[in-house]
Amino acid sequence: MQKAALITGTGGGIGKVVAELLLKNDFDVYGYSRTNKIQHPNFTFTKIDLSDLAQVNNLVFPTFNIDNEVLLINNAATIGTIVPFDKKQTSDIIKEYNLNLVAPTILCRKFITTYPDDKKLLINIGSGAANKAIASWSTYCATKSALDMLTQVIAEEKHKNLTVFSVHPGVVDTNMQLQIRNSDPKNFPLLSKFADYYSQNELESTKIVAQKLLYIIQNTSRFEQNILSIRDVSLN
Ligand SMILES: NC(=O)c1ccc[n+]([C@@H]2O[C@H](COP(=O)([O-])OP(=O)(O)OC[C@H]3O[C@@H](n4cnc5c(N)ncnc54)[C@H](OP(=O)(O)O)[C@@H]3O)[C@@H](O)[C@H]2O)c1
Repeated sequence: MQKAALITGTGGGIGKVVAELLLKNDFDVYGYSRTNKIQHPNFTFTKIDLSDLAQVNNLVFPTFNIDNEVLLINNAATIGTIVPFDKKQTSDIIKEYNLNLVAPTILCRKFITTYPDDKKLLINIGSGAANKAIASWSTYCATKSALDMLTQVIAEEKHKNLTVFSVHPGVVDTNMQLQIRNSDPKNFPLLSKFADYYSQNELESTKIVAQKLLYIIQNTSRFEQNILSIRDVSLN
């Protein structure tokens, strides 16, 4: 049985490292983002702006002749503009909801309907921000919270051959954290806390996050909840 992984946001950060690890583990990987640096015979890149819903709607997932195990990781997201809610531009609100919530929702449905009979694993990359109100992260907290609930509703529906998780990766050393540290202290009350995570070496590496995600992918039956935290996964 061939294993295929569809991953959004393979241009950098967690998505790129996960894609590279899955390639090493014999998956055929299909990456969807605006940029690409991965070159591998089993990697297929599709350039797409996932905040543009026309492009998302037109996206066609690959189909396979033989029996496949198929994995979708909805990973691409943005922290958005880090400003108090009254300063948020409407155009940014729309783009951030589209990328973080509407696109993954459309892709979850496309995934289930494209592969009705195949063994399927659907992983939405969530965030602890789903359960914690963080000032100046309005769209991020709201979209991640909604994505967790979407995950739970899909799980509740018990679709054929489908396992679904929302995985919270923790605080990870990527461009998203850099963007948080580069925000304006006048607009972000918790800036010093996130600067401290970095200066005190408390950020998790993308490598460890990818390894733990692979463990979840290879051991789905060991997890009973649909919302998982990478921190609770032990590799030993
Ligand atoms: N880093 C953390 O501390 C942390 C904590 C909790 C949850 N998360 C979650 O983990 C996931 C990955 O985050 P990350 O930290 O790896 O972020 P990142 O370093 O900012 O990477 C974001 C990824 O999404 C892609 N992307 C961004 N905008 C896009 C668009 N409009 N269309 C298509 N692709 C787009 C980027 O590729 P291109 O630029 O090439 O498009 C990149 O691959 C996200 O869901 C995030 O919410 C991260």
